[in-house]
Amino acid sequence: MIDFPVDLIRFLTKAQRVVVLTGAGVSQESGLRTFRDAQEGLWAKYDPMDLASPEAFARDPKLVWDWYAWRREAVKGVRPNAGHYALAEMESMFPMFTLVTQNVDGLHRMAGNKTVHELHGNILRVRCSQCGTFTEIWGDDSEHVPQCQLCNGLLRPDVVWFGESLPLAELEAAVIAVRSCDIFFSIGTSGVVQPAASLASAARSVGSVVVEINAEATPLTQQADFSLLGKSGSVLPALITAVKSVVQNR
Ligand code: APR
Repeated sequence: MIDFPVDLIRFLTKAQRVVVLTGAGVSQESGLRTFRDAQEGLWAKYDPMDLASPEAFARDPKLVWDWYAWRREAVKGVRPNAGHYALAEMESMFPMFTLVTQNVDGLHRMAGNKTVHELHGNILRVRCSQCGTFTEIWGDDSEHVPQCQLCNGLLRPDVVWFGESLPLAELEAAVIAVRSCDIFFSIGTSGVVQPAASLASAARSVGSVVVEINAEATPLTQQADFSLLGKSGSVLPALITAVKSVVQNR
């Protein structure tokens, strides 16, 4: 049984506009490694930071393509966990609920969230690195990176690499939602990658209450109004239960 601060529960029973930012920690209990977890198997010797960049793709497109093919298969093999489903339930509990994610695994939509802004793209989508055309099918040549059927450009995952700009529409939607929210959750993220990491301070600057739910302390922990240390798959369902029990006993 988790004892939540009374003020937090009281605030949540009154909140109208909620924004949630999630990171890889929310998918950890689905069996996906977080971004800064050690890589496994044949990828153990690579640092993700050295693979997730336009320079890495230009240098060795096949290595980068194969790493994302391996991660895509890992994503296809997992399902949302209790934390994802709790966030889907939260969307129906508040008049305005916006989910902003750094995750590229698509698990929030799979769990039922409708308003999802994927700041870093989606690993299950593939596009041409030259003309930008999206495609669902590509050749399975183990020797070469598949090519675009329109322009023969090399295909790449539709994710944001280090040094690339975020999809503007997604970022703008996130900033607009943060500017008018009552409460901002930062869940399962180390809060080190910009601009996502700035959303919490943007929320504070408009007077929102900031709540962190994370397995360990982060740079945000000291600034958050409430910092709940724990796994999102346990904390989120318990938080919903606590809010609902207050509302039902009114
Ligand atoms: N519940 C809650 N938090 C968890 C859990 C869990 N079950 N498991 C891990 N965490 C926490 C870790 O303690 C860590 O602070 O989730 C955080 C994950 O941090 P990162 O691995 O840095 O992932 P993330 O914050 O999403 O990275 C942000 O950086 O590298 C880029 O594009 C990449 O989207 C990624 C971005």
